[in-house]
Amino acid sequence: MNEPTIAQKGPYEVVLEPGIKSWCTCGESKTQPFCDASHREKGIFRSLKFEVKEKDTYWLCGCKRTSTPPFCDGTHNKI
Ligand code: FES
Repeated sequence: MNEPTIAQKGPYEVVLEPGIKSWCTCGESKTQPFCDASHREKGIFRSLKFEVKEKDTYWLCGCKRTSTPPFCDGTHNKI
C-alpha cells in the first residue's frame, strides 16, 4: 500500500515558533502532525521539512492528501 495513512480527517491547529519543522507525510507518526521517524517502517515516505518564518497559528494537514503540503487545502472534505 503506497497511500499514506489518514492520521486525522482534518487539520491540526498548531502555534509554531520560527524555525525548521518536519511534517509527517506517512500518517503513522505518534507526534502528529510532526514526524517521529515512523515512515522508516513504511519505507517509501520521507518527512517534509519546512521553514516557519514567524510565530503564528497554522493549520497542518492531517489527512496527508493536501496538494499544498504541509498546509491543509480542504482536500479532507472529499475523503
Ligand atoms: S487535513 Fe488534509 S487537506 Fe485538510
